Order: sequence, then structure tokens, then C-alpha cells
Amino acid sequence: MSDNQSNLSGSEINTSDATNDAATDQGRIFTEDPVPNWWKWIFMATIAFAPPYFFWFHNGAPGRTAAERYDTALAENLRLQFAEIGELSETRENVLKYLYEDSWLKVGRSVFKANCVSCHGSDGGGLAGPNLCDDSYKNIKEIGDILKVLQNGARGGAMPAWKAKLSPNELVLVASYVASLRGSNPATAKPAEGQVIDAWPPKPIEQESDTEVESE
Ligand code: HEC
Repeated sequence: MSDNQSNLSGSEINTSDATNDAATDQGRIFTEDPVPNWWKWIFMATIAFAPPYFFWFHNGAPGRTAAERYDTALAENLRLQFAEIGELSETRENVLKYLYEDSWLKVGRSVFKANCVSCHGSDGGGLAGPNLCDDSYKNIKEIGDILKVLQNGARGGAMPAWKAKLSPNELVLVASYVASLRGSNPATAKPAEGQVIDAWPPKPIEQESDTEVESE
């Protein structure tokens, strides 16, 4: 193997020999000094390491791929975050409060992606269920009604009731997320249904919203 290598580097150097003396000098150094042993050992160790690692990584045991570890980290993160806000009470005030908290809207979005897109479309434009992105609503007159529709369902269960299926935090945050969809213009959107309603109220002043969080 080392014979091969020195032949190789020798022939490489020969091409540059023709052009300048410095290269020839260097070439002499290269051809006479073999690759150091420590280097070869590291090289062989990496080769020896690869197949077992490959099998270990791909042998189907859960939690080893990057995607799985990402999911685990996400779930863990959600748990930590929920610890931070405690268990929210299901109130209109909380829906309004979290409408203005972007990082929590992302949590609401993940609830939406997991439970609602089959009927409302991946960006809320509507499929079997109505478009949630325009200013018209069938069952909603003000922001608190989103929570009520979610808790109890609508039109005899065509919109299912989620009270028993989602936790209070999920209900509040997905309601805030639905409110945040208003005014977005998804690529595919069903025509408006129902009545045009007033804009959502502005962000509440912090002091006014101190009663609605039940801490752990
Ligand atoms: C099985 C299909 C289905 C699923 C799943 C579903 N919805 Fe609905 N949703 C509907 C239908 C149908 C309506 C319209 C009810 C009506 O006509 O009054 C609706 C209405 C609504 C409304 C009221 C809209 C309006 O204009 O009054 C909201 C808000 C809503 N859904 C949110 C959600 C959220 C959030 C989820 C996920 C947690 C969800 N929906 C899951 C079918 C569904």
C-alpha cells in the first residue's frame, strides 16, 4: 500500500518537475517521507469505525435519526413551554392575549397542523370546513366565539367538538392561531361564507390580563 502511494505521489510530482526547481525540491521531500504511521492509524480507524456505526444508526432502533431526535426535542420543548404558562383557563381573554404572542402562535399552529388541516386546508383556506382567513364567519361574532366553536363544535358535529380531545392550552392556543389567520391570503381559498364581522380587539394592556393565568 505504501509502495503504491509513493509511486502515486512520485508521478504527481514529476509533472510539476518540468516547470520549476522549487517544486522538484518539494517533490523530493514528499517522495522520501512516507505518510506517518499515526496518520495511517487514524485513517484506518475511521474506516473501521464506519460500518458498525452505519449499522448502529440504521438498524431501526427508535430515536437515532436526526428527524426523530428533532421530534423528541420539540415535544420536550413544548412540555417545558407549557410548564412556563401553566394550565391556561379557557377564556376569551387568553385567546386574545396569545393572538399577540408570536412564539405561542407557533404552538397553536402545530395543533392546527395536527388536527384541523384535513377540513380547513394547510393554511386555513378551507376544504370541507370554511375558509378561516377572510373577514366572514358563520358562527363567530367576536374572538371569544372561536373558542366556543372549538369546544362545542358546530352544525351538528360537521365541525367536531374538541373539548375532550385537546388540552386547555391547546384549545386556547389553536383558537389564537385561527384568529391570527384572519387577513392572510392563502393560495387556495374558498369563497367567503357567513357574515363580515368587526376586526379583533387590539392587544390588551398587561395589567388587565393578570387574572386569567392559573399558575401551576
Ligand atoms: C371533520 C372536519 C373538520 C375538522 C377536522 C375541523 N373542522 Fe372546523 N369546521 C368544519 C366545518 C364543516 C365547519 C363549518 C360549520 C358550519 O357550517 O357552521 C367548521 C367551522 C370552524 C370554525 C368556525 C368558522 C366559521 O366561519 O364559523 C372554526 C373557527 C373552526 N372550524 C376551527 C377548527 C379548528 C381550529 C380545528 C382543529 C382543531 C377544526 N376546525 C377542525 C369542519 C372541521
